[in-house]
Amino acid sequence: MDFFKWVNLFFIIFNCFLPIFSNSSSTSNDNLPINKFLDLAKNPQVFDWMVDIRRKIHEKPELAYEEFETSELIRAKLDELGIPYKHPVAVTGVIGYIGTGLPPFVALRADMDALLMQELVEWEHKSKVPGKMHACGHDAHVAMLLGAAKILKGLEKELPGTVVLVFQPAEEGAGGAKKVVDAGVLENVSAIFGLHVNHNLRLGEVASRSGPLFAGSGFFEAIISGKGGHAAIPQHSIDPILAASNVIVSLQHIVSREADPLDSQVVTVAKFQGGGAFNVIPDSVTIGGTFRVFSDKSLKQLRSRIEQVITGQAAVHRCNATVSFLEEEMGLSPPTINNGGLHGYFQSIAGSVLGVDKVKDMQPVMGSEDFAFYQQALPGYIFLLGMENPSVERLHLPHSPYFKINEDALPYGAALHAALAARYLVEFHQEVSVVEGKYHDEL
Ligand SMILES: *[C@@H]1O[C@H](CO)[C@@H](O)[C@H](O)[C@H]1NC(C)=O
Ligand SMILES: *[C@@H]1O[C@H](CO)[C@@H](O)[C@H](O)[C@H]1NC(C)=O
Ligand SMILES: [Zn+2]
Ligand SMILES: [Zn+2]
Repeated sequence: MDFFKWVNLFFIIFNCFLPIFSNSSSTSNDNLPINKFLDLAKNPQVFDWMVDIRRKIHEKPELAYEEFETSELIRAKLDELGIPYKHPVAVTGVIGYIGTGLPPFVALRADMDALLMQELVEWEHKSKVPGKMHACGHDAHVAMLLGAAKILKGLEKELPGTVVLVFQPAEEGAGGAKKVVDAGVLENVSAIFGLHVNHNLRLGEVASRSGPLFAGSGFFEAIISGKGGHAAIPQHSIDPILAASNVIVSLQHIVSREADPLDSQVVTVAKFQGGGAFNVIPDSVTIGGTFRVFSDKSLKQLRSRIEQVITGQAAVHRCNATVSFLEEEMGLSPPTINNGGLHGYFQSIAGSVLGVDKVKDMQPVMGSEDFAFYQQALPGYIFLLGMENPSVERLHLPHSPYFKINEDALPYGAALHAALAARYLVEFHQEVSVVEGKYHDEL
């Protein structure tokens, strides 16, 4: 069935919902039956379409700022739906618009990039690009946002404002979200929602929390230089291996002795490179690692202490150290802090779409998300979307070469995206009207 036939079918289904919905809701715009969005998203017209998109993207994974074919596919699908868009934004990004084109504006975000790793899952739609893989689910995120776009386009006449679809590049440590914000396309947008698939939360469930959800993260690399020489005559050398070893031990004392134990932080040295022979002291050693925190203040503090400890401890051993935080290449991601005001809104919408018992609270996670950059610019809310069906299989962690998507989760993500945006416009629009009404009364 082509898209227009589907739209007709949609309105037939949709009109059947109308009486039920009108009786069960007290809000004035009752033409957005969000409690039926999940059924709409499970309809093969949406579901199969999303699965096909997700598999195509999975087969052709593209790294940060190289998502050219992914971006092209997204634009082709938006053209198919008759949705106008801006492109390019932040190199490969695409920003779509559904609704009146006027305020209020609400944004939905999907990330597009893959990872530099080899897929080890053997299946028909395995990555066809050696050494690259969608191992974080961003292929599914794109498919779900397009699914939501399809649902929302069918209801466009009912939207009292504009839904802004954000397909962003480079989530994996290259600050794509920041580039999207800097491009100015989110100016005048009142709120932004995002989701991330999760491997050990049940299918049909979501989890999130108000406040800090994912850690902020930074990276560091240091070159510790001494003076190489014969391993048997250390007095003629300045040993950078010993200096680097003490640097690493001292780095581990920052969190244990200086941070508030109730303010979770991590410093990990994950890289140590130096020397190549059994009997030669090398000229220098390179170490590198990452740090994680839950506030911007702790991020700044930790960054500055890491630098002091590396240079200071290297000096104790007569070595010089240069420290780089790789902010250009790797990004410095702020903590992901969910807007408190949107938390209750999310719980109520997710409860209507999935059932209240499917909406879970969760503890913060030390991983990070560049969604944080949106939240620095405007109220934002991100949640985890469950994929696990233990009767089928246990799923692997993201960034594992065995990572898999349970495609049955796609309709849940699409329905939630659509419901969060549609209902937000209705409620925000009403708020604005009330405020305007009052203003006029006072005049
Ligand atoms: C935001 O609104 C202002 C005032 O209406 C307008 O001038 C500006 O172009 C808008 N920005 C975007 C990105 O739409
Ligand atoms: C450290 O830097 C100083 C100043 O540039 C230099 O004189 C010294 O030789 C360096 N030491 C090592 C071990 O590289
Ligand atoms: Zn990832
Ligand atoms: Zn991810």
